[in-house]
Amino acid sequence: MQHPGLRLAILIIAGLSLAKAVEVEVHGKDNKTCIYAVLSVNFTVHYEGNGTMENTTFWLPNSLSSNGSICGGNNSAPLLKMDFGTGHSLSLNFTHSAGEFSGDVLIFTYNVSDAELFPGAKNKSVKHVAVNSLMEPAPLNTIYTCRSVKAIESEAVVMVFWNVSIQAFVENGTIGKNESFCKADMPTTVAPITTITTPTVTPIPTKPPPELPEVGNYTVKNGSDPCLLANMGLQLNITYTENKTHLVNIDSNSTASGHCGDNDATLVLEDMDTTIQFHFTVDQSKFFLKEVKVNISLVINGSTTAFNSNNSNLKFWQAFVGSSYMCHKEQSIVVTEQLVINTFNIWVQPFEVKNGTFSRAEECLADSDLGFLVPIAVGAALGLLIILVILSYIIGRRKSRTGYQSV
Ligand SMILES: *[C@@H]1O[C@H](CO)[C@@H](O)[C@H](O)[C@H]1NC(C)=O
Ligand SMILES: *[C@@H]1O[C@H](CO)[C@@H](O)[C@H](O)[C@H]1NC(C)=O
Ligand SMILES: *[C@@H]1O[C@H](CO)[C@@H](O)[C@H](O)[C@H]1NC(C)=O
Ligand SMILES: *[C@@H]1O[C@H](CO)[C@@H](O)[C@H](O)[C@H]1NC(C)=O
Ligand SMILES: *[C@@H]1O[C@H](CO)[C@@H](O)[C@H](O)[C@H]1NC(C)=O
Ligand SMILES: *[C@@H]1O[C@H](CO)[C@@H](O)[C@H](O)[C@H]1NC(C)=O
Ligand SMILES: *[C@@H]1O[C@H](CO)[C@@H](O)[C@H](O)[C@H]1NC(C)=O
Ligand SMILES: *[C@@H]1O[C@H](CO)[C@@H](O)[C@H](O)[C@H]1NC(C)=O
Ligand SMILES: *[C@@H]1O[C@H](CO)[C@@H](O)[C@H](O)[C@H]1NC(C)=O
Ligand SMILES: *[C@@H]1O[C@H](CO)[C@@H](O)[C@H](O)[C@H]1NC(C)=O
Ligand SMILES: *[C@@H]1O[C@H](CO)[C@@H](O)[C@H](O)[C@H]1NC(C)=O
Ligand SMILES: *[C@@H]1O[C@H](CO)[C@@H](O)[C@H](O)[C@H]1NC(C)=O
Repeated sequence: MQHPGLRLAILIIAGLSLAKAVEVEVHGKDNKTCIYAVLSVNFTVHYEGNGTMENTTFWLPNSLSSNGSICGGNNSAPLLKMDFGTGHSLSLNFTHSAGEFSGDVLIFTYNVSDAELFPGAKNKSVKHVAVNSLMEPAPLNTIYTCRSVKAIESEAVVMVFWNVSIQAFVENGTIGKNESFCKADMPTTVAPITTITTPTVTPIPTKPPPELPEVGNYTVKNGSDPCLLANMGLQLNITYTENKTHLVNIDSNSTASGHCGDNDATLVLEDMDTTIQFHFTVDQSKFFLKEVKVNISLVINGSTTAFNSNNSNLKFWQAFVGSSYMCHKEQSIVVTEQLVINTFNIWVQPFEVKNGTFSRAEECLADSDLGFLVPIAVGAALGLLIILVILSYIIGRRKSRTGYQSV
């Protein structure tokens, strides 16, 4: 306590903590306390508003319910679950080993449809962020204490914790008398605010970020007769600044239009922010995708940006006219340096559609059993190259030896 700055810092932190500390006690069937916690948390969440990125900050309130908590037993881990507001919650489960307990996974669930905390949100859904808790192991029957400010950042959320006291596996319902302090509280250094970006923990029952696009069944008609069929899942991979990419899955409900000709056909897919044009052509009784045009407007860092990409020199999805082209495996069509289209489960027929159904399919090489030949061929070519390099090296050495001898 010799350092005046340290004392001041503790005073400030203590002052803050008085304002917003939350106390929770979880009781077991026998009414004995099994988890005890005091903590202060504020959350800052970035979310998509009406065309702009917004952020909102709120506190873990005192009026919360810990009914969803679990004391834990021989087969289940203790869980501290704090439900608050309109469908938000913060939960932490615990493990113990070798006489110590620690926090395991911290899950923050927030309900974007809560108009009070997320005014003007576009995407009204419930989201989860799961991170490894920053709680260091503490001996059983002590209270883990961390007064220092710790910020955890993951995805669109920043959680700031301070004045934390937690004990799980409380024995006999008696809260421990001794505290074990976190490293940041140790008085050797005045710790600045530590911001730790924790990798997201995987086992969460929500969709992982780059989820696969849904397959859309698109039809272009000539009068009332279907003349072009395309079933496919489409994903745009847009590089908007150096090594920053953005994935957009094309809505399978996008409206399809276009035109059919004898040697040319186009498919145009449109939804609110995106237009994609595919242009097919025929060469020597085979059709293929020759041109792709993409116009998309994206909200990036709060401002709407339009991307236009076009490539008319492509040769994808080739098959004989009168049949269809099929490929289940993912393919990547490089339109420009800025835009790549990933395609999934594609089945297209741009010409000679009979009776509204696909004709016999020609499948891509990657789908067939012959697909394995490609890596083998590449391997063989590499092997040959290595042999050639070794041979030329040996020949080179021979030559230089004979050179030395003649000197
Ligand atoms: C549990 O404890 C509370 C007070 O701590 C008491 O009011 C309540 O009656 C107890 N319940 C049981 C089932 O013992
Ligand atoms: C959240 O808490 C941290 C630590 O006390 C503080 O620095 C920050 O200003 C708080 N944010 C808001 C919006 O109150
Ligand atoms: C979104 O913003 C636009 C223009 O800024 C406005 O015309 C529109 O009414 C807004 N929509 C909502 C739902 O607030
Ligand atoms: C929150 O948004 C405001 C403007 O809307 C911006 O000035 C501020 O920097 C944002 N805060 C964070 C933490 O991103
Ligand atoms: C949760 O606890 C509150 C009292 O703290 C009680 O009124 C409510 O009925 C409980 N809800 C459930 C689902 O047990
Ligand atoms: C846990 O295991 C111990 C002995 O292994 C047993 O005495 C106790 O009843 C078990 N508790 C529960 C809740 O199953
Ligand atoms: C804590 O919860 C996470 C996510 O639900 C789970 O993966 C993990 O196994 C749990 N830990 C323990 C010790 O049960
Ligand atoms: C819990 O109770 C048992 C038996 O009464 C006792 O031996 C043990 O020391 C108690 N533990 C604590 C932490 O008080
Ligand atoms: C799309 O077409 C495929 C194959 O013809 C079919 O299995 C699937 O049910 C169709 N999906 C919709 C939404 O019509
Ligand atoms: C998107 O493009 C970037 C840069 O080319 C690449 O690193 C990334 O793997 C791509 N993502 C997907 C899902 O295709
Ligand atoms: C597509 O439209 C159908 C029916 O209108 C709807 O049930 C489905 O949720 C929509 N799919 C998407 C991805 O919007
Ligand atoms: C076209 O479809 C109709 C019913 O969908 C069927 O009766 C007819 O036989 C089909 N014609 C051919 C040539 O497959």
